[in-house]
Amino acid sequence: MAVLLCCGGAVAVVTWALTGNRIDTVGKVDFTNKLAIPPLATSTVDSRGRRVFDLTAQEGIHDFGSGRVSPAWGFNGSYLGPTLRAKAGEQVVVNVKNTLGQKTTVHWHGMHLPAVMDGGPHQQVAPGATWSPNWVIDQPASTLWYHPHLHGETAAHVYKGLAGMFILDDPTATSLALPQAYGVDDIPLIVQDKAFGSDGELTERTPFLSGVGILGDEIAVNGTHSPYLDVTTRLVRLRILNGSNARVFNFGFSDNRPFSLIGTDGGLLDKPASMNRIQLASGERAEIVVAVTPGERTVVRSYDPDQGSDFDALNGGADTFDILELRAAATLSPSPDVPAALVPIDRLNPSDAKVTRKFSLSGHSINGKQMDMNRIDFAAQVDTTEIWEVFNNDGDPHSFHVHDVQFLILTLNGAPPPPHLTGWKDTIFVPSDTYYRVIMRFTDYTDPNIPYMYHCHVLYHEDAGMMGQFAVVNPGQAPGTPPAYRSGTDHAGH
Ligand code: C2O
Ligand code: CU
Repeated sequence: MAVLLCCGGAVAVVTWALTGNRIDTVGKVDFTNKLAIPPLATSTVDSRGRRVFDLTAQEGIHDFGSGRVSPAWGFNGSYLGPTLRAKAGEQVVVNVKNTLGQKTTVHWHGMHLPAVMDGGPHQQVAPGATWSPNWVIDQPASTLWYHPHLHGETAAHVYKGLAGMFILDDPTATSLALPQAYGVDDIPLIVQDKAFGSDGELTERTPFLSGVGILGDEIAVNGTHSPYLDVTTRLVRLRILNGSNARVFNFGFSDNRPFSLIGTDGGLLDKPASMNRIQLASGERAEIVVAVTPGERTVVRSYDPDQGSDFDALNGGADTFDILELRAAATLSPSPDVPAALVPIDRLNPSDAKVTRKFSLSGHSINGKQMDMNRIDFAAQVDTTEIWEVFNNDGDPHSFHVHDVQFLILTLNGAPPPPHLTGWKDTIFVPSDTYYRVIMRFTDYTDPNIPYMYHCHVLYHEDAGMMGQFAVVNPGQAPGTPPAYRSGTDHAGH
């Protein structure tokens, strides 16, 4: 940017890009389409007691509504995928069949599982092949998701529509008096910015001077354009996933009504937080509960997010969107109040951490290095606690996502985190001049040779190399060598 600012013409261009490119759909969305609810995936229990799901990545034609009909990709359908749902302690198997004409992968974002089952860039599924990872659900009730993670192709595969929710349950969460009837008062919302061409076809829109790649100018929720939701209960729980490639949303309601934030990426909070905004970067989730009154309408809106830089308007930081209209029925079923206490959170003790690592995010690199499929950057020792310090060292907004573990934020810019960042997280937004200290524990699944990923979840940055690899090892073990990887081949490794 400094180079551009040194001449007057460039100043004018940047000024135009900052102001003329602004997107504002507030008041302009007509909410004519009933919100699609992703179906709950059917499953069977096999002879070994394992819950078995089938996901087929396929091409199709998707009707977003409002005349937007487009070739797209989906799992078991034309766009997005079914919601997988499993309970803590269950063993799951997912048969991932790839009927696309090219390789892909499916990563279980937020899941604690062996690296070889993680669906990162090493677990490629060749065209026509089926990959069947299995693992035991060993973490609290939470709203996770799944999406491709093929190195260099993640942005394109997710944008075309490959993503879905993965909801985990446990007895503690189920026993709470929270809305939990899927599709009735417990609603998944996969919110994505999209762009459409003149024939209604999905297009990849990358604004002039965007530092983050694709930024759509319209919104689809669960693959529905201009959606409305009929609400039939006094309280409704919204499980919000920012499934965009790069866009940051700052969700609230059109009348600024407060809502209870009850959960974040890795599970429920210890107590609800009353808020009227919740900002989510790409990949982050929030569970909120909101009250409605009979017969009213209110709109879920995205206000302009705080992206921390003078140039954030280039990256969507000045954009506002109407997202979804809630239409309350004339008569609402009663709902119990949100409990004052949710779930206990086992706070990790910073004095137990033997290792502190630093991650500097800048350009398309982490600690000055770009992703190399053949390099494992470091190894974390099993049964240890670590503190990771994450810095943004440039003018572009980044985020930071870690596979295998959920972590807790110790400090944000040196201060204790605000209420919405006090629960389990796997993805954090890291705009300019931001510094986090987070704490995590590595509990099992050692394998020196198969790495987990850490990366920016702005998918364009991730594809451009803003990613590294770590292994979890036994005491004294060094990071090993990943299985042979050759980009361009249809199958490598496991
Ligand atoms: Cu949502 Cu490594 O990804
Ligand atoms: Cu980034």
